[in-house]
Amino acid sequence: MEAIIQRNKDGKPTLVQETIDKPKPESHQALVAITHIAQNPTDVQSFDRDAMGDGSVFGCDFSGIVESVGDNVTRIEPGDKIAGLIWGGEIKGLGAYAEYTLADERICFKIPNSITPAAAATVPLAAATAWLAMFSKDSLNIDRKKGGSILVWGGSSSVGLYTIQLARTQNLNVITTCSPRNFELVKSVGAQHVFDYSDADVVRRIKEVEPELAYVFDTIGNADSSAAASQAIRSGGGGLCTVRPGKANTEKCTEQTKVTDVLVWTAFLKDHAYGEFKWPANKDDHELAAELFEKLPGWLDQGVVKPNAQKVKQGLGAVKEGFQEYRDGKISAYKIVYEI
Ligand SMILES: NC(=O)c1ccc[n+]([C@@H]2O[C@H](COP(=O)([O-])OP(=O)(O)OC[C@H]3O[C@@H](n4cnc5c(N)ncnc54)[C@H](OP(=O)(O)O)[C@@H]3O)[C@@H](O)[C@H]2O)c1
Repeated sequence: MEAIIQRNKDGKPTLVQETIDKPKPESHQALVAITHIAQNPTDVQSFDRDAMGDGSVFGCDFSGIVESVGDNVTRIEPGDKIAGLIWGGEIKGLGAYAEYTLADERICFKIPNSITPAAAATVPLAAATAWLAMFSKDSLNIDRKKGGSILVWGGSSSVGLYTIQLARTQNLNVITTCSPRNFELVKSVGAQHVFDYSDADVVRRIKEVEPELAYVFDTIGNADSSAAASQAIRSGGGGLCTVRPGKANTEKCTEQTKVTDVLVWTAFLKDHAYGEFKWPANKDDHELAAELFEKLPGWLDQGVVKPNAQKVKQGLGAVKEGFQEYRDGKISAYKIVYEI
């Protein structure tokens, strides 16, 4: 099969198109012929940092058609149109920028006829991140029976847009921040209050509408965003979950803030390591993520969860150009999707 693969030449990572072996599905996995891949920041970040090394195939979000299944697969069958998540690069030669990949039968969903495969590809990684950040015991651990308010810092990001919508499915009130050009968009998907994150008065304005804020999800995760968002937390204390694990981004948070992070890979039932960080297999997160993937087809079909807008590029050959679009900081409220 054809894939976009990292090759290190003269110590420098480069992306090339190569013919490599088709992967083989193991127990609870399916082989998927990919039709669409959605680009995520982690694809570019991992490549630019040479985090995975020579032989890595990046790409985590895909949609396509199930070609065959491994042992013990009960949820999907050949011919099904599905969208799923894979940790591109973690296993050499396996990722989404390829003609074929492997799906975990519990970490994928059947695409309802009401949405396109390009739209479906934007869902798995960002929606699973949003869901785990809010409800994992290791992250915000919001009690779904109690309700309340959540501040989503960066509501127009891909993760932010899914967080707003998934929070609304659990009757949480959503306050969010983004650029004014995206105010109407975040309101249209369920945010009750929206503020400009570059306004010097943003924290005071958030506190005016929610003085008792206990939960913040920082979907941007830089030192300034986490510091500012933490100032909106009530004096009695609350939690801030960041999408960018690592002390450097959260050391300026206020004292009343309990800082946690989210790692979407805990959706898979296996040990994970990324640089200095280690995450052991987490059964609770796996079950939580599987619950989301079961609910997604219904929510997408009913329009309760609307996929991110897509900018579609043709072919694996466009990946280099898409990576550059991210590096140039051009992506706002849309996802790049490759059609192959
Ligand atoms: N830990 C994990 O498991 C995990 C999982 C998924 C993603 N991530 C990380 O989460 C981050 C977001 O990913 P994504 O795919 O959602 O990104 P994205 O859609 O590419 O983010 C672009 C958006 O960021 C917003 N933004 C930029 N700077 C901001 C700031 N200072 N405050 C508020 N909003 C700001 C922009 O909003 P405006 O255009 O409105 O200004 C733009 O819409 C990435 O760093 C990614 O690597 C981590």
